[in-house]
Amino acid sequence: MKVVIIFDSIFGNTAKVAHAMADAIKTNVDVKAIQVGQFSDEDLKDCTHLLIGSPTRAFGPTSAIKQMLANLDRNSLQNVKISVFDTRMAIDEIDVKILKFLEKRLGYASDTMQKIIKRRLKKQSVPWSSYIVNGSEGPLREGELQRAEAWAVEQIQ
Ligand SMILES: Cc1cc2nc3c(=O)[nH]c(=O)nc-3n(C[C@H](O)[C@H](O)[C@H](O)COP(=O)(O)O)c2cc1C
Repeated sequence: MKVVIIFDSIFGNTAKVAHAMADAIKTNVDVKAIQVGQFSDEDLKDCTHLLIGSPTRAFGPTSAIKQMLANLDRNSLQNVKISVFDTRMAIDEIDVKILKFLEKRLGYASDTMQKIIKRRLKKQSVPWSSYIVNGSEGPLREGELQRAEAWAVEQIQ
């Protein structure tokens, strides 16, 4: 089993989530957490599980993650299980009505990543999870790293 975690992160929260996931599974599997800018197709050689994480920015993933998804090699991912995760603000902390409305309609980074992966890579099921940061830049809410660790373990069962 080889797990690759590709992530983007502006303030460091999604990076923390990605590394916590890698640490949680590293005793049993070959796992690498790679910042999206450092990722190349070569990293996917023999990959069995791919986890992709992005901060939610303007209701979707970062442009670097979108670009990476647009360029992923379909053929090498046919038998790879792909799961996605994001970080986001707590909707209950947003007191601007229009933002709350848009967020409910347009969603988060995971929604867009799921859609792109289903459409481009013809994956029927793309599990996802999401971790909350305090304010707009973090830090992560208490307990979120533990939730991320448990989720990563679940993805490789
Ligand atoms: C310019 C900007 C846009 C953002 N847009 C959203 C958004 O649409 N929805 C949301 O839940 N959080 C939004 N956030 C909060 C980010 O999701 C948060 O900064 C991110 O999860 C932190 O992850 P990072 O430390 O890995 O960059 C935004 C933050 C910034 C600075």
